[in-house]
Amino acid sequence: MTIKWREGMTVDYGPIDQDHHTLIAIINKFEAVKPGPDAPARLAEVISELERYGEAHFGREETLQRLVAFPLAAEHSQQHRHLMRSLAEARAELARTASAKDLATFREHMCGFLNDWLIDHIIKTDLLMKPYVKAMAPHAELLGNLHAAVRAMAE
Ligand SMILES: [Fe+2]
Repeated sequence: MTIKWREGMTVDYGPIDQDHHTLIAIINKFEAVKPGPDAPARLAEVISELERYGEAHFGREETLQRLVAFPLAAEHSQQHRHLMRSLAEARAELARTASAKDLATFREHMCGFLNDWLIDHIIKTDLLMKPYVKAMAPHAELLGNLHAAVRAMAE
């Protein structure tokens, strides 16, 4: 099932929400991969993209949490690490998946897992940051400018 953004997922009307929109778009790509000979490679690409973007996003969230002394930072980070481990395991499992039937099962399982994880994490864990987003805002702006400058230098 495709994930749709809803107002109740709003954390900061800023960079965290923007990152969540991007994560949702990447997860929805996973579901959009059609069965066929190139499906394993395309699924692997989406997992890698999710690993890269997830790592960057989790880093941004955890930095902001540290800067405002968010009291639940350690538990929050554990959830992020758990997802990163699950993605690495999924990448390995996909590499071992040979038959079309196993691939379909893998894809279905991963779609359910990713949808549940993201929605659950945003609603139950990320929303706990809401009382801190005002304090995070100036840091978030600085981080945003820094990332934009790094991207501009890389182009
Ligand atoms: Fe988070």
